[in-house]
Amino acid sequence: MVGVMSLDGKITKGISSDIYKWTSLEDQKHFFSQIKKNNLLVMGSQTYEAARDKIKLTKEKLRVILTRDPQKYTPEEIPNILEFSSDSPKVLVKKLEARGYKKMLLLGGGIINSLFLKSSLVNELQITIEPKIFGLGKNLVSDDKLDVDLKLLEIKKLNSKGTLLLVYKVLI
Ligand SMILES: NC(=O)c1ccc[n+]([C@@H]2O[C@H](COP(=O)([O-])OP(=O)(O)OC[C@H]3O[C@@H](n4cnc5c(N)ncnc54)[C@H](OP(=O)(O)O)[C@@H]3O)[C@@H](O)[C@H]2O)c1
Repeated sequence: MVGVMSLDGKITKGISSDIYKWTSLEDQKHFFSQIKKNNLLVMGSQTYEAARDKIKLTKEKLRVILTRDPQKYTPEEIPNILEFSSDSPKVLVKKLEARGYKKMLLLGGGIINSLFLKSSLVNELQITIEPKIFGLGKNLVSDDKLDVDLKLLEIKKLNSKGTLLLVYKVLI
């Protein structure tokens, strides 16, 4: 799972879905390096809607968008490149494993992060903390009971302002 948040755990600044207005260039560099490294990207439909204009579809990568209404997106679907699914995280992972995928980059947002954490399907978190406090905004995980135990693997200061990249392993 990869994400960037304010110090108070917000992945959006208030109601604005444009995260590039407040994330640092260093975090964006990190994020796009992770995108480059992974051939399977999964995100929720709200994240997809927010990022749609910036997404560059390529033959080498499969993007799976989780929605409860995949039919709504049928005109956009491109098999093996852009797919829409209402499968539960467990079923989805099983199906993707059967297709040969070994690793998945989970891109959020908060609702989808919670779904995967709840199903114990996240093994590593790469979280960037921007030195900002928003008070209002969407949370890294949606309002739901979770009990996830983590171990810090790495901490990196990405710039002089103090943007921090934290890498955690999820303990089972
Ligand atoms: N800062 C960051 O790192 C970061 C990362 C990602 C996103 N974001 C921001 O976060 C916002 C989106 O986050 P979000 O939490 O609102 O939404 P989200 O997690 O991206 O997507 C939620 C959507 O997932 C679908 N969904 C929910 N439960 C499902 C289930 N059981 N099975 C299948 N699909 C299911 C639903 O889609 P339908 O409504 O289509 O049914 C739901 O609306 C955007 O503004 C984006 O810019 C920030």
